[in-house]
Amino acid sequence: MTDGRVTLVSGNWKMNENHFEALKLVQELAALLRASGVPKGREVSIHPSFTSLRTVQTAVETDHVPVALGAQNCHFEDRGAFTGEVSAEMLAKLNVSYVIAGHSERRTYFGETDLLVRRKVDAILAHGMRPIVCVGETLDERSAGEAFSRVTHQVAEVLSGRSGEVVGGVVVAYEPLWAIGTGETASVEDAEQMCAAIREEVGRFAGAGAAASIRLQYGGSVTPETAGALLDAKNVDGLLVGGASLDAERFVGIVRAQA
Ligand code: PGA
Repeated sequence: MTDGRVTLVSGNWKMNENHFEALKLVQELAALLRASGVPKGREVSIHPSFTSLRTVQTAVETDHVPVALGAQNCHFEDRGAFTGEVSAEMLAKLNVSYVIAGHSERRTYFGETDLLVRRKVDAILAHGMRPIVCVGETLDERSAGEAFSRVTHQVAEVLSGRSGEVVGGVVVAYEPLWAIGTGETASVEDAEQMCAAIREEVGRFAGAGAAASIRLQYGGSVTPETAGALLDAKNVDGLLVGGASLDAERFVGIVRAQA
């Protein structure tokens, strides 16, 4: 982390934890964070499933747990005939601060395109929340030497055409698909090089101010053991954590990781 950006460590719980289990997990997190604290210059968000949001919100607000509430997805319309969907407006009412948009699992299993992700980002911003926009390449794309063009293209498709101020306030998570849930973490060099390329691309379409303030997370099999070195990389401003965020001790280990 450099240039005074606040790092953001986010726990993506995916489709895990019913609301009883979610309450237990947030209580464990609360106890550990009360004991050890969140390091200065670092912020934490947790992203339960929709059915647990209200429960987790109440626990976080009642106990003053030092974490921001996050969601994993949203619809781009505020309301209407979209059976089974949850709108950004509804999330904002639950005091959600961060919403993941375009996670690779949504792109792969639910056909989400850059255009759709862009519309979700519009809705998230319109309701005063911050999007965490996920981008990343497949192993085939990396092997073919297309990783950088693929990822910078995704970033531009979703974020270009907005003011530098708006772009500077978002979070982009670089999550190479081959590292998600596989136990295979990108090397610090791979993560740093891609985050540097993303920052340069943001500078190209949104200006130097946006490039300096946008926060870039790395995600993909992050553990307490790998977190410190990743967070220490110049252009890596945070981590998006899946599996390890379901274990309070391991997640707090990542939150507190130092190089
Ligand atoms: P993982 O998931 O840490 O389990 O690899 C990361 C993510 O999908 O956000």
